[in-house]
Amino acid sequence: MLKVIRKKSDLKEAVGSFKQKGKTIGLVPTMGALHSGHLSLVELSHSQYDVTVVSIFVNPTQFNNKEDLDKYPRSEESDINLLSKTSCDLVFIPSADEMYASTPLIKLDFGYLENIMEGKFRPGHFNGVGLVVAKLLGLTEPNGAFFGQKDIQQFRVISALVKDLDIPVKLHMAPIVREMSGLAMSSRNERLNDEQKSTASNLFKSLQIAAKLITSGNSLEKAKKEAFEFLGQLKNIELEYFEIVDFETLQNIPSVNKGEQLVLCLAAHIGGIRLIDNIVIEL
Ligand code: PAF
Repeated sequence: MLKVIRKKSDLKEAVGSFKQKGKTIGLVPTMGALHSGHLSLVELSHSQYDVTVVSIFVNPTQFNNKEDLDKYPRSEESDINLLSKTSCDLVFIPSADEMYASTPLIKLDFGYLENIMEGKFRPGHFNGVGLVVAKLLGLTEPNGAFFGQKDIQQFRVISALVKDLDIPVKLHMAPIVREMSGLAMSSRNERLNDEQKSTASNLFKSLQIAAKLITSGNSLEKAKKEAFEFLGQLKNIELEYFEIVDFETLQNIPSVNKGEQLVLCLAAHIGGIRLIDNIVIEL
């Protein structure tokens, strides 16, 4: 049966008792407003570890925009209800005061990752992500932790955190789960009305257009230009960035070579709601 935990000390105790019995732990950090994408992470964790812990915490330190934090969807009761029907064993739902007993003094800086894409447009965001993920890893000491590919730059940031600080955990990146329309699942989609949702499905289409052009031998410039033109003729989409970068480093690539793995990433605003998406291609 799903156990709901709100205190850090109770989380440590519950996880500790599983570990004493020799059980392995998988952690799925979330900010709630759970959807099928999150549930796929839970099932993936369950397939690889004995015990699955989900955390639900809308982390204030990773929001660089107060309005975005205030409007972030919260649905604790239905999240617990949803999780009770999955293979999740423990759900950790701390308050902000429980999670941050005092304002953290440390600041995390992820080097060049701070200056591109999400880092560039959301200053301070990765400091908050790094802090909260480090706390969750410290409290749970999981064998594995699961994150979605939709936030690929977040995954690279967390990989740097774990590597640079020698945190003993295996990180897993799970594929993007999409609506029938192609729209990447996101808690933020809850804030879109039907018209905006249908507009938002064009974000994936623009990625597909560019991906197809590249895999059929066109230059990155041409692919980017066509994607821009496609999105530019649509009303109500405000594109923030559209980048074609190396899958591992997320850095620009001077030219495309056979065997390379690229990722096409974008962020856009639709009706004031910020959405991101990406698509990975192999040449
Ligand atoms: O991806 C998210 O939902 C959040 O950034 C995370 C990893 C749970 C940290 O708050």
